[in-house]
Amino acid sequence: YKRITTNSLVEMKKNGEKISMLTAYDFTMAKIIDGAGIDVILVGDSASNVMAGHETTLPITLDQMIYHASSVIRAIKRALVVVDIPFGSYQSDPKEALRSAIRIMKESGAHAVKMEGGKEIKESIKRTLNAGIPVMGHLGLTPQSIYKFGTYTVRAKEKEEATKLKEDALMLEKAGCFAVVLEKVPAKLAGEVAKSLTIPVIGIGAGNGVDGQVLVTHDMLGMTHEFNPRFLRRYLQLYDDMTSAFKQYISDVKSVDFPSDEEQY
Ligand code: KIV
Ligand code: NA
Repeated sequence: YKRITTNSLVEMKKNGEKISMLTAYDFTMAKIIDGAGIDVILVGDSASNVMAGHETTLPITLDQMIYHASSVIRAIKRALVVVDIPFGSYQSDPKEALRSAIRIMKESGAHAVKMEGGKEIKESIKRTLNAGIPVMGHLGLTPQSIYKFGTYTVRAKEKEEATKLKEDALMLEKAGCFAVVLEKVPAKLAGEVAKSLTIPVIGIGAGNGVDGQVLVTHDMLGMTHEFNPRFLRRYLQLYDDMTSAFKQYISDVKSVDFPSDEEQY
C-alpha cells in the first residue's frame, strides 16, 4: 500500500479526485474500512455519542480519545488517521492545545489532529502546526458548541455567519491547515468555500461541490436508527439485520439448536 499523507489529499484536490473519509473508534472497524481503501479515517469525538451513549460530544476525555485512536492506528495500513481533540482540551490557550495534540500524536501514533472553530482558535492551530503536527479545521455546525447554537440545524444560512465562515476558512488555509471539514451548511456556500481554497474541503451535509465527503460509519451502516438527517445515506440496515441475528441466536440457544453435534468437542 502507498500510505495516504496530508500532501496526498492536497494533490487529490488538485487532480479533481474526491476524498473519502469515515469515522472509526476501534481496531476491528478500522481494519475493515482501511482494507476497503478509504482515504482518511477520523477518530471523531462522535465516539462520545456512538460508543459511550452520551447525548453530546462534550463529555469524552483526551484519555478516551487516545484509547480509541491507538486502537484504530493498530489496524491501519494505508489511510491517514485524524483524531479529534476533545472539548476542553484545547480552548483555554495555545499551550494547552499543543500539549493535547502532542499527547495524541505520541500516545496513539495518529497522523493529524482536528480542532473545531475559526479565528477564536487561530493561535492554538498555529502553535500546534509549529510543532510539526498537521491540523484539520472544522467549521459550520461544530458540535462542541451545541449549547451555544441550541440546535443541530443547518448553519450559516444568514449572510453574517456565512461571511464569517468564509473568512475563517481562508484563515485556516493561511495558518497552514491541510484540510477543513464543513458540517451542515448550504451546498452553495460550501461549494464557494471549496473553490476559494487550495486545501481540500471535506463535507458532511455540505453538498457535492466540496472536495470530499465524511460520514459517521455507524450511521451509514444503519446501526444507529434514530438519527435521520437529510444528508445521511444508509448503505446497510444493520440495526435490523443485527436484531434478526441476535433474535435467531437467542432462539437457537433456548431450543438447543445451538450448538449442534458439529459445533462441540
Ligand atoms: O466526530 C465526528 O464524527 C466528526 C465528523 C462528523 C466530521 O467530527
Ligand atoms: Na467531531
